[in-house]
Amino acid sequence: MEAFQVLSVLLLTAAATDAQSFHIGKCPQPPVQEDFDVAKYMGIWYEIERLPAIHEKGKCIQANYTLLSDGTVSIRNAELLPNGKVNSIQGTAKVKDPSQPAILGISFFKGVSDAPYWVLSTDYQTYSLVYACSDYYGVFHFDFAWILARTRVLAEEVISQLHDKMAVVNVDLNQLIVANQTDCDGHSL
Ligand SMILES: *[C@@H]1O[C@H](CO)[C@@H](O)[C@H](O)[C@H]1NC(C)=O
Ligand SMILES: *[C@@H]1O[C@H](CO)[C@@H](O)[C@H](O)[C@H]1NC(C)=O
Repeated sequence: MEAFQVLSVLLLTAAATDAQSFHIGKCPQPPVQEDFDVAKYMGIWYEIERLPAIHEKGKCIQANYTLLSDGTVSIRNAELLPNGKVNSIQGTAKVKDPSQPAILGISFFKGVSDAPYWVLSTDYQTYSLVYACSDYYGVFHFDFAWILARTRVLAEEVISQLHDKMAVVNVDLNQLIVANQTDCDGHSL
């Protein structure tokens, strides 16, 4: 690809998404959760913080993961929109390489290639740190990161430890958005 094309793609994508989650160079290859047990990871996770991800606009964002008999994971993400309606989306996740169980590919639309979902660190019962990075021609990459928790509030010291792990993979901590998990009860998400 010519330099001009690379530059155009780069500027377009940077303008279309949030320029801050954009980095020059290839994706980092951070260590993931050792001996990841997908079964223990199933159930409800609430979003605590995230890097800007344009497809999420609501509050009370939560995910429900269910292990299916074929070993794939069914995902249901739900959020409460400003107009009070619940917006949900169904997807699937799967481990591609059994020797790397903490590295999943998730997909919400048929025909669209999987998005990465790397579980960097989880204790299954309290928190999870999820990282996703997409490489473009080995020239630049976009990263996304989420802190998830089993409850709508996560202790500050845990968040702070996860921030340290994010900093190691060059996640721009200034760009993290704190999810709004207040007044979520009473809505059937
Ligand atoms: C999560 O999904 C499972 C399987 O569909 C369902 O049985 C369960 O009620 C869901 N949990 C919540 C809180 O929605
Ligand atoms: C979170 O949502 C509540 C209720 O919808 C709202 O009152 C509050 O201002 C929001 N908090 C933030 C930090 O946006």
